Order: sequence, then structure tokens, then C-alpha cells
Amino acid sequence: MDAKTPQNTVVTPAASSGDTERRTAGGKVLWHFTMSLDGFVAGPNHAMDWMTGFSFRPGLIEEYVRTTGAVLGGRDGWDAHPDAGTIYGGAWQGPLFVLTHHPEDARPASGVTFLHCDVSEAVRIGLEAADGKNLEVFSPTIGRQLLERGLIDEIDLHIVPVLLGEGIRLFDNPGGIPVRLESLDDDRSAAVNVRYRPLTTS
Ligand SMILES: NC(=O)c1ccc[n+]([C@@H]2O[C@H](COP(=O)([O-])OP(=O)(O)OC[C@H]3O[C@@H](n4cnc5c(N)ncnc54)[C@H](OP(=O)(O)O)[C@@H]3O)[C@@H](O)[C@H]2O)c1
Repeated sequence: MDAKTPQNTVVTPAASSGDTERRTAGGKVLWHFTMSLDGFVAGPNHAMDWMTGFSFRPGLIEEYVRTTGAVLGGRDGWDAHPDAGTIYGGAWQGPLFVLTHHPEDARPASGVTFLHCDVSEAVRIGLEAADGKNLEVFSPTIGRQLLERGLIDEIDLHIVPVLLGEGIRLFDNPGGIPVRLESLDDDRSAAVNVRYRPLTTS
């Protein structure tokens, strides 16, 4: 432990009856990503070619396919990868909502609804469409806005062994204050220990 490690952090429990009541459906809002060890969810210019060569625990993808009712993303990610058929390797099908200030110039796509509304309203619409399953937020930009409003239920990350060095961060909030979290695993405030070594490239 170093001098910067918080010793007396007071963490407010995430769930309260108020949290539950403000939603229109029973599903959770998950901010869900595969993330590089250094905190990026996309490379420069939305590059996703680094997301290969990793293994996930058996059944993981199927769990998300089963529990995801709808997806909310942002316009930049959509414009970079305008294909709803690639979500969970094509195994998931369902409503995809893309938040944008200019829906009028978006090319229509099957199953995709372009929303121009407040982020809270986008969540309400997404949860309603999810029909009791989870709404997955696939956007750092939108996730940050939702976090500020207390509308993220869980941050769900798969941290993969790669360092990108640049790109789109999970949480980019210069000048902001630290956001305290609690783990959903047994020890709520424990550090997670990981240990890697560089792979040699030839
Ligand atoms: N690693 C993973 O598991 C994973 C999973 C999913 C996605 N991704 C990646 O995540 C990246 C997303 O990048 P990003 O967060 O920078 O971009 P983004 O959320 O996809 O797009 C941001 C844009 O969405 C629109 N927007 C955001 N908030 C809005 C609001 N309140 N009202 C109206 N429009 C709003 C704005 O576009 P306009 O002003 O132009 O309308 C904004 O510039 C993509 O590269 C994607 O591939 C990674």
C-alpha cells in the first residue's frame, strides 16, 4: 500500500429504493467494456483491431447475449462501426439506440433508433425496450454523463492484457473529482492484484 491509498473512504451503497424507483423497467444499466490494462476501450480513431487474441471464460459471451435487452451507444462509435450485426460477434440481436445531436443525417439501419434527447430520457427509452433485461451502455462519453446523474448501476469491465498508450479512455474527465466505487465481489474496497510480463515480439 502506498501513501496515496485511501484509508477511510466512505462508500455509499449503490442500490437504494430511490435508485430502483427512478427506472421504468427492472433491468440494470451496465457500462460494459473490454478494456486495455491502461484504461482504453478503443484505440485512436476508434480502432478496435487490438481486441483479438484474448480468451474469455467459457460461457461469458452467452451470458451477455442472454441478459442484454438493449444497447445504447453514441454517434461517433456508430459512425466508425455502423453495423449492429457485430454485437457479441453477431450472437445478439435486439434494439440498438444511438444518441446524437443530428439524427437527420444518419443512414437508417435495421434495429437501430437514432435518438436526439437528454441522456436520462435515452436510458428510460432503452430500459423500456430492454423489457426487464439489462441496458448496456457502449459509450464512454454517454457513460460519463450517466455516471454524473447517478444512472449507471454497474461498471462491468473485462480487462485484457494489452497496453494501448492512446485512444479512447473509459473515463476521461479532466478536472473532475475522483469517483469512488465499490467492488461487487466479496471484499468491496479491495485492490485487484494483477501481474503481467511483456510478451517478446520478433
Ligand atoms: N472495448 C469495448 O468493449 C467497446 C464496446 C463498445 C464500443 N466501444 C468503442 O467505444 C467508442 C465510443 O467512443 P466515444 O465515447 O468517444 O464516442 P460515442 O459515445 O460513440 O460518440 C460520442 C458522440 O455521441 C453523441 N452524443 C453523446 N452524448 C450525447 C448527448 N447527450 N446528446 C446527443 N448526442 C450525444 C455526440 O455525437 P454528435 O454530436 O455528433 O451527435 C458525441 O460526439 C467507439 O470507438 C467504440 O468502438 C468499445
